[in-house]
This record gives sequence, structure tokens and C-alpha cells, in this order.
Amino acid sequence: MAEGQGMTRRQALTLAGAGALSAGVGVAGLVNEWGSPEPRVVGGGSSEGGTTGMELRQPDEHVSSGGELALTLSAVAGRAQVAGRSVECLSYNGSVPGPTLRVRAGDRITLDLDNRLGESTNLHVHGLQVSPSDNSDNVFLEIKDGETFRYEYDIAKDHPAGTFWYHPHLHHTVADQLWAGLCGAIIIERDDVPSLGAQQERVLVITDVTLAGDRVVEAALPDRMLGREGDLVLVNGQLEPVVTVTPGGHEHWRVVNACCSRFLRLRLDGAELRQVAGDVGPLAAPTSVEEILLAPGNRADLLVRIPGEGTHELIAEPVDRGSAGMGRMGGRAGGTGEAVTLLRVNARGDAAPGASLPAQLADLDDLRDVEVDQKRVLTFAMGMGFGRGMSLTIDDKTFDAERVDQSVRLGTVEEWTIENVSPMDHPFHLHVWPMNVVSRDGSPVEGPPEWKDVVIVPAGGNVTVRMRIKDFPGRTVYHCHILDHEDLGMMGLVEAKA
Ligand code: C2O
Ligand code: CU
Ligand code: CU
Repeated sequence: MAEGQGMTRRQALTLAGAGALSAGVGVAGLVNEWGSPEPRVVGGGSSEGGTTGMELRQPDEHVSSGGELALTLSAVAGRAQVAGRSVECLSYNGSVPGPTLRVRAGDRITLDLDNRLGESTNLHVHGLQVSPSDNSDNVFLEIKDGETFRYEYDIAKDHPAGTFWYHPHLHHTVADQLWAGLCGAIIIERDDVPSLGAQQERVLVITDVTLAGDRVVEAALPDRMLGREGDLVLVNGQLEPVVTVTPGGHEHWRVVNACCSRFLRLRLDGAELRQVAGDVGPLAAPTSVEEILLAPGNRADLLVRIPGEGTHELIAEPVDRGSAGMGRMGGRAGGTGEAVTLLRVNARGDAAPGASLPAQLADLDDLRDVEVDQKRVLTFAMGMGFGRGMSLTIDDKTFDAERVDQSVRLGTVEEWTIENVSPMDHPFHLHVWPMNVVSRDGSPVEGPPEWKDVVIVPAGGNVTVRMRIKDFPGRTVYHCHILDHEDLGMMGLVEAKA
């Protein structure tokens, strides 16, 4: 009874209107104070809809000039538009998702992160091959409420062109802060990438969230164990928006899976889909795809062509990502049972000529038959613990920012086999150095080299990847990109030295 009353008070706080937030308490801060071992559902009910059918908006875009992009990124707790309504959430510069940063290889990005969340945060540039130290992509920094911190990222001239993204990375709060609205896209361009002749380029940042009224609903512990999935799946913060296209022409869509845990298996029936880039920039050649599977953190650049007039739906098909089938988790499954409509595509008007696509896009590095300097095996596991329910570990350990788990040498090639002995899939993510997938469950990957920065390691399976540790001394991390798992400790530290 006492616990019940306590929860009522907490619930009242969560739902207390603008007061709680303007008093300087961020949504995610409330969540963390209340991390309770008991399953709790706050908000009492699923999201009522939102406004659908609006034209898909593009986040504000900031473009570098003269080799520089300088921007203040204000992380704020307050109202922003989510699913077509005004919601108390977290945002960068007042919008969910935050602004798109468009730069060129060789540029410097200077971001003043102005923290007005009412709680600590920091910033990670996901997929960028930049230094993990000092004021670059350093995830060990804590930027306190009220502070402004200058991040500087030097993007090498030979950095791949592609679609990347940014999100907070302060351990224990990453999922809550992303869920509440903090993310944005980064586009890197290069002169030597062949033109795709697309009529229109669009960014599609896909997130999911559960709302109750004008509040973001916090995730209960069992949902964190499984990896939370929201009732609403949004594209650029919108619910089932509409994209109007010209029949016959090509559109270039840069798709980011910015969901905390949801895997996206995307289909667009009635359209021709070609993938032209993945996590680490261009594929070797445009590749026709029926559907595309994006784990949290993954990106895909797609060329989309609808041959004639008509309306088609971009669908996320259900994905079974395993179950936490132990003890009181009661065999709950991760992943949803239903397909979700993400947006509608209206092809209208006179047909446009399609582009003639380049036969080859890039000459990709291939580590599959190079000599390896060091091999390692990392084991991902979930086990029953005491008090806090299940444990999520890598090599039987949870994250410790003071402990170096892997020491690597600059100038070498590493081979890591990620073993998953748990009943759920874990998307493995490594910062700084992209991974070339060599084999899955012992079967070699054939065909063009596959480069990723998030690799799905299926329940009970394993994946072997190779990395060229070509630059950047310092410490950084690898982790499960089900961000609840990361926050619960499924993360390790890697240090690179000369
Ligand atoms: Cu997108 Cu370490 O994360
Ligand atoms: Cu990352
Ligand atoms: Cu995981």
C-alpha cells in the first residue's frame, strides 16, 4: 500500500504539467531518480494518436562553408512538436529531431552544447571517424546542467561520405534522453562521390516514443531489460506524414534508425528501392532491395522510384529480436507483433525521367584477406542477478569507465568475434573504427565488402568483424545499441595506443 501511494505521488510529479520542467527537472532526470526494481507503468495507457497526413518536414539544416560549421546546440527541456502535438520533451534547438548538420570531408565542426535539460548530458557523433579524446567525440565527458561546452570535430579529407547522426551518450541516461527527443542527422559529402541524379534528397530520422497526453512516458524496468519500444513510430518527429513524389523520378532518402531498441524492417511495396549507402558510406554499387533491416543506430541511403501514379506505404514489419525468457521476465518478447505504417508516398503528376545510375559507387577497402594482428572473442550475456533483476554483461562484466577492457595498437588490424549466449539479439556498436563483417556463425560473408558500425549479433549466434585501427589514440567504447542495454552496463572500453 505504501509503495502504491508512493507511486501515486511520483506519477503526479511526472504528469504535473509544465511546472516540474520549468523548475529545472528534466524528464529523464525524473526517470532516473525513480529507477525502481519493480515494474511500473506511468502514464496509464497507450498513446492516443496524433496528427497524421501532414507533408513530411525536413529538420532545419546547417551547412558548412569555407571548411567550417559552427553552431550552438541547445539541449532544452520544454515544449516541442512531437506527433503533431505540443509535448513536454527534450529537444535540440527546440525541435525533434534536432537540426541536420551538412558538412564536407575535411571540414571542422564546432558545436557549443548548451545544456538546459536540468540534468547532465553530453554528445556523441555516431559513426564519425574522429578523435575520441579531449573535446572531440569524448563520451566520458559530463556536461552539467547550465554549462556550455565546446566540441570540435576534425573530419579527415578521406572520411567516407554518408549519413551519420548525433545523440547524447552519458552512461545510464542515453536511452531516456534519446527517447525524450534528443537526436539529429549528420551528412558528410565528398566531391568524388558519383552523382545519383536524384530529384529530391530527404532525411528520414525514425524514432519511437510513448506519450500520455502531452508527456513522454517513462520506461518501466522490464521494458528496459527487453529494450523499450514506443507506441508511436515517427519520421522526423511526425506521425504517418506524407511524401509527395513525381512518378518515374528518383528520390534519395537518408534513413536513420534512431529508435532506442526497435529494429526496423522497412518495405515500400510498389516502389523500386536501391540501397546506395550504409553506415559507413557508399556501397560498392547500387543494390536493389525488397526490404531493409536497420538495427538501432544503423543507417541506409536509398534511391526510391515509384514508376506510376498512386499511393504507397513505407512499412516497418515486425521483427522478432528474441525474448528475455527467464524468471519473472516471464518470457516477454522483444519486438512488436504488428506492422507499422511510417509514412505514405503519393506519386502524382506527369512522369519524370529516371536518373541513369552509376554502375559503381566506391572502391571499398576489404579486410577479409588481410593479415590480422590480434584476435579477440567478446561474449554478450544476460543472466539473473539479485535485486535488480537481470544482468546484461560483456565478458561477465558491466561497464566501468575506469577499466580498460581491450587495448589495441594503432596501425594494426583487429579481428573480434562477438558471441551472443543470450536469448535476445544484441546490435554491437563500436565507436571510431568501422567494422568489416567477415563471417556470421562461422560462414564467411561473400560478395562485396560489408561495412557497418552497428552489427546485429543474433541470439545464440556470433559475428566476426575486422577493424583497421588506423588513427586516433585514446579511449572509447563499444556497446549494445539497444540503448537500455547500454545504460544497464552492456558496454566496454577500448584504448588505442601507438
Ligand atoms: Cu549511437 Cu555509442 O552510440
Ligand atoms: Cu556511436
Ligand atoms: Cu542488447
